[in-house]
Amino acid sequence: MKPVIAPSILSADLTRLGEQIGEAVAHGAGWIHVDVMDGHFVPNLTLGTAVAAAVRQATDRWVDVHLMVERPEALLPAFAKTGANSLTVHVEATPHIHRALQQIHALSCKAGVALNPGTPAEAVFPVLHLVDLVLVMSVNPGFSGQAFLPEVLPKVRLLRERLDAVNPQARVQIDGGINAQTLPEALRAGADVFVAASAVFRHPEGIAAGMTALRQAAGLGSDPLGSAD
Ligand code: DX5
Ligand code: ZN
Repeated sequence: MKPVIAPSILSADLTRLGEQIGEAVAHGAGWIHVDVMDGHFVPNLTLGTAVAAAVRQATDRWVDVHLMVERPEALLPAFAKTGANSLTVHVEATPHIHRALQQIHALSCKAGVALNPGTPAEAVFPVLHLVDLVLVMSVNPGFSGQAFLPEVLPKVRLLRERLDAVNPQARVQIDGGINAQTLPEALRAGADVFVAASAVFRHPEGIAAGMTALRQAAGLGSDPLGSAD
């Protein structure tokens, strides 16, 4: 599966969101990742439906909503209405993950299931046939700019193997601490969608340099449109 770079707007300059998304897309962003936090499931309160809708307006790229909220079921219709392409819910956030994933499909979105670093791969085995992507958290969710946790790599490997058996089309996304140094390890373990907030929007030389470094680390070469499918 061709690697995709998915910049997370959590570290973007929100006063210039459209412009910053445009720059990331011009340099090869395939998906735009929107981190939604409710102040309960994670100790931070971030973006809601208004911002997801603004991202939709700003780009025709895949809009990827990551819901770090308790009981996400109630919010799914509102996020689907923003025009998001995929909605990802945490397996730890609801006792009814199977139903939540069915609900996402019924809303005509692609469905993702996410796992915190402390959650074993086996927790999502019963629903792997229902997902379009599995998101492996490589930091404890809540904040950008944290260090990558290499101990999640065996979990990436195990999930990729299991998906190859039951749902080979599904992607494995990795989120947290991804930069040009850590991306190749995650790629080798079987991840193919790379979320990055600070490595794109807080790169010391700017968004274009951040995207170029990630694209090269992912083997996508120097053509900015190379990761844009
Ligand atoms: C973490 C969020 C991530 C985060 C990544 O709670 O889910 O998407 O923004 O930030 P970096 O890439 O800076 O680790
Ligand atoms: Zn995220």
